[in-house]
Amino acid sequence: MENEKKKEIVFSAIQPSGTITLGNYLGAVRNWVKMQDEYSCIYALADLHTITVRQEPAQMRKNIIDAYASIMACGIDVEKSLFFIQSHVKSHAEMAWILNCYTQFGELSRMTQFKDKSAKHADNINAGLFTYPVLMAGDILLYQADKVPVGADQKQHIEITCDIARRFNGLYGNVFKIPEGFIPKNGARVMSLQDPTRKMSKSDENANGCVHILDTPETIMRKFKRAITDSEAHVHYAEGKDGINNLMSIYSAVTGLSYEQIEKDFEGKGYGDFKTAVGEAVVEHLRPIQERYNQLVKDKGYIEECYRKADEIALKISSRTVNKAMKKIGFVI
Ligand code: TYM
Repeated sequence: MENEKKKEIVFSAIQPSGTITLGNYLGAVRNWVKMQDEYSCIYALADLHTITVRQEPAQMRKNIIDAYASIMACGIDVEKSLFFIQSHVKSHAEMAWILNCYTQFGELSRMTQFKDKSAKHADNINAGLFTYPVLMAGDILLYQADKVPVGADQKQHIEITCDIARRFNGLYGNVFKIPEGFIPKNGARVMSLQDPTRKMSKSDENANGCVHILDTPETIMRKFKRAITDSEAHVHYAEGKDGINNLMSIYSAVTGLSYEQIEKDFEGKGYGDFKTAVGEAVVEHLRPIQERYNQLVKDKGYIEECYRKADEIALKISSRTVNKAMKKIGFVI
């Protein structure tokens, strides 16, 4: 069609380290699903990123397949989107090396995630943990992505991606598209239910702080009922009410209700009622995802078929960018 505009490219990825959390889902994966019709979407399981922290081999293999099935169950349709496994596409490791040589030690030292992770894994501050954002920059730049849907914690990594791309383009011409982060208004930073000043994370020491999308309804209800709040017992959004603000943002994200509406609906009711309502809404939201997951995971052959097909296409697309960059640098291709 003459007027048909070429669809913009979306790229994002998730680490398959353990199960997918409600934070991953509301901050990122849900938007991946929503963007599938309007954009040309490319998603990856960033398994190369996971080895910056030690993994148990058998568990890692299981996590990768489970994560692939979970993301499909969330609504990623492999007929519409490309969904591949990063380590199966060699361009990612190649591009990471190239970009490492165009990234400064100083700029990587400023990454807050590196500072946090190196404090947490003080016995294993490996070079991969330090250059992690470069691998991520390569992931994005290989596909000439326009938009990158992520949670707020990845903002700094998107910024360094743009800095690296601009630097490279400045030297060699327009090799990389400069991408843009796409951070949702609601759900960009889901906080721990046990310490609402900290991000919900699968590595939370307190298991009750983190909801996994495959948690049973009973577990989800228990976690929400035990969520830390304040002593005010009045459901409204305000500075300093981190626990309630977090619950309101989760409730709003899964029901679509505005904060004003939520405040109205819970006027005169206590926190107990509110926590139960949030838990129930999350259980209902996740129910179809869990049903699809239970179906999908039975058919490992089908899952393999899906990623092998996507791996092959991803390799073709990404190899073009690797070749272009290598040629510009001066390699003999
Ligand atoms: P990862 O695996 O830690 O998280 C995957 C996605 O989930 C978002 N997220 C959250 N959003 C809201 N609230 C939370 N509590 C929360 N926790 C996680 C993250 O922002 C992310 O969007 N380095 C990346 C993976 C990656 C990547 C990429 C992302 C590798 N290459 C290229 C985008 C583009 C990471 O560790 O995400």
